[in-house]
Amino acid sequence: MKAPFIPLNAPYSDTQRAWLSGFFAGMHSHMLHSAGSVNAANARTLFILYGSQTGNCESLANDAAARAKAHGLIPMVKGMDEVEIGQLARMEYLLIITSTYGEGAMPDNAEMLWEAASEDDAPRLENVKYSVLALGDTSYDLFCQAGIDWDKRLQELGATRLFDRVDCDVDFEAPAEKWISEVIPLMAEGATTVSVIDNEAPTAKSAYNRKNPFPAKMLVNRLLTAADSSKETRHYEISIAGSGLSYEAGDAMCVVPTNCPALVADILKALGCSGNEEEPVSGGLMSLSEALRTHFEIKLPSKELLEEIASRSGDQELNALLHNGSKDKLNDYLWGRDILDLLLQFPGIEFSAAEFLRLLKPLQHRAYSISSSSKQHPDSVHLCVASVRYDAHGRSHKGVCSTYLADLVTEHSDVKIFFTPNNSFRVPNDDSLPMIMVGPGTGIAPFRAFLQEREARNASGKNWLFFGDRNAATDFIYREEIEAMQASGLLARLDLAFSRDQAEKIYVQDRMLENGAELYAWLEQGGYFFVCGDAYRMAKDVDQALHDVIRIHGNKSVTEAAEYVNQRRKDKRYVRDVY
Ligand SMILES: Cc1cc2nc3c(=O)[nH]c(=O)nc-3n(C[C@H](O)[C@H](O)[C@H](O)COP(=O)(O)OP(=O)(O)OC[C@H]3O[C@@H](n4cnc5c(N)ncnc54)[C@H](O)[C@@H]3O)c2cc1C
Ligand SMILES: NC(=O)c1ccc[n+]([C@@H]2O[C@H](COP(=O)([O-])OP(=O)(O)OC[C@H]3O[C@@H](n4cnc5c(N)ncnc54)[C@H](OP(=O)(O)O)[C@@H]3O)[C@@H](O)[C@H]2O)c1
Ligand SMILES: Cc1cc2nc3c(=O)[nH]c(=O)nc-3n(C[C@H](O)[C@H](O)[C@H](O)COP(=O)(O)O)c2cc1C
Repeated sequence: MKAPFIPLNAPYSDTQRAWLSGFFAGMHSHMLHSAGSVNAANARTLFILYGSQTGNCESLANDAAARAKAHGLIPMVKGMDEVEIGQLARMEYLLIITSTYGEGAMPDNAEMLWEAASEDDAPRLENVKYSVLALGDTSYDLFCQAGIDWDKRLQELGATRLFDRVDCDVDFEAPAEKWISEVIPLMAEGATTVSVIDNEAPTAKSAYNRKNPFPAKMLVNRLLTAADSSKETRHYEISIAGSGLSYEAGDAMCVVPTNCPALVADILKALGCSGNEEEPVSGGLMSLSEALRTHFEIKLPSKELLEEIASRSGDQELNALLHNGSKDKLNDYLWGRDILDLLLQFPGIEFSAAEFLRLLKPLQHRAYSISSSSKQHPDSVHLCVASVRYDAHGRSHKGVCSTYLADLVTEHSDVKIFFTPNNSFRVPNDDSLPMIMVGPGTGIAPFRAFLQEREARNASGKNWLFFGDRNAATDFIYREEIEAMQASGLLARLDLAFSRDQAEKIYVQDRMLENGAELYAWLEQGGYFFVCGDAYRMAKDVDQALHDVIRIHGNKSVTEAAEYVNQRRKDKRYVRDVY
């Protein structure tokens, strides 16, 4: 039966009105749009909370909202950092969509709600009916752990699981779409449904996206590090002219690579295959060599391949690492070891072409933080990428995507790209507020974009950059631009940390501590604190240094400093883009 049309101003009860108005307050316009502007007594609200670092879950939350609306529900999409723990208990119908980061950890925007939900005195959730969609990557040990944790905790707090959790690997679209199409009707069952009219004109969307990447042209591929550097970092400019795509400073661009033909040839040789073997791939037949070049991850071994090699070889070391060893030891073993290393290490194991393909994961895009502002470069996207090249196990190794960009894309070939928005990682709306940016190595990328953005906006707020890399003489990338920004006053402060120019390592966090009093003063002036780059070592140490600065110069206890930092995170004044 068709859902009744509800006029826009149909009455809510006072409680409903107060509750929802609290929620609508501060909601982004696109979310209001997706919620539609409808009121209806007894209409069912479906809360959709997302935990997302790089936008996948946020985008799925919006997909789920559109579907909910089509089923006559009123969807409320919220980032987990926009919700207080006390509000959870009143979300009778709830979807949680979250990714996992770090080592089995919550994405940044979900951390605080998760901490509150984990407390002994967290509110009971007997009234809540929920389901969880978890995004992750099976190459990590703790696959989809954040989603698993939410599912378990909601149960412990008395909530009712209306539909089983779905854990999605890197190819999340199909399982996520299935979950959405199955869970929404359940959430709508027995509800008074409404027809929602949107007041906002739909925004023009490009035909290009993750499922249909844009074939872009490479305009510039320039070496940033000196020829005699121990690193190779490159600046790329990629044209998006004619794509209808647009981006904002803070977003990431994803590149869909193809594999190095020389690595494909070496793998075929190790397998004893010609490459002409025809195999079923993506619903058709494809030669093995083409499949390896374009469809499968042939550098990083999947868990299934490792297990198969361990079981067939009976190798004690590998079996011990996989089944009895510590996670760290397995990671050490795998660091720098690729599929070809394993094939060469165990030549006695024979795989048929079909068997081998079944043990590989699909070739994935890689994300890169955009290093330009569309206000200055509407038709192109700039990236700053460290080429992964190293020698190990008697061979030269190359990272798939960073060297695809460096070596394989020419001005005559296309590079397939799409964007992932990062709505939390943005230049402040208030142009007068200070920005503090910590971005060593390629972490500088989004801050180049932020500074371009501030320049284009003629923003009065002062800007402070902490940058560092190995050696000043060879690795001070974008040096001329940065010094020009300093000279023009766009950069009010610049602090540099070149780690290998002296016997003792000096890192960006050392510079933060040395300048702690001023850093604290900037924070007190409403300054935003941004971090980009290595998630595993740098971002953790910078976080500790931030706590220390606030404790020492704000004259606070450890707990008070942590509360100060948490408040900043909640206000989105401490945000990170780390990988
Ligand atoms: C949101 C986001 C933004 C990002 N932004 C940027 C960016 O702006 N710039 C940038 O350069 N990267 C960025 N990255 C990282 C980027 O996505 C890729 O992970 C990176 O380029 C490596 O990919 P690859 O395909 O070249 O290497 P892969 O083929 O994925 O190989 C990586 C593997 O190589 C091995 N390895 C790497 N280095 C060594 C070494 N020195 N010794 C031994 N083994 C090694 C390890 O096994 C490692 O897992 C970002 C990532 C994310 C998630
Ligand atoms: N797990 C890893 O080993 C790891 C981590 C991050 C990035 N990467 C990869 O390495 C490539 C290059 O990355 P990049 O150019 O962004 O950065 P990077 O080369 O890893 O480092 C940039 C700078 O950060 C310093 N650094 C190292 N540890 C730090 C810490 N705990 N705190 C603060 N600074 C620290 C480095 O010093 P030193 O090198 O002199 O110590 C260097 O001066 C990328 O492809 C990335 O994917 C690997
Ligand atoms: C630095 C980093 C760490 C990650 N750690 C995990 C992990 O521990 N477990 C997991 O299942 N997935 C992990 N992932 C994969 C993400 O969860 C996955 O890419 C997800 O689709 C991201 O969704 P989002 O864009 O909404 O954050 C990690 C990804 C990155 C880049």
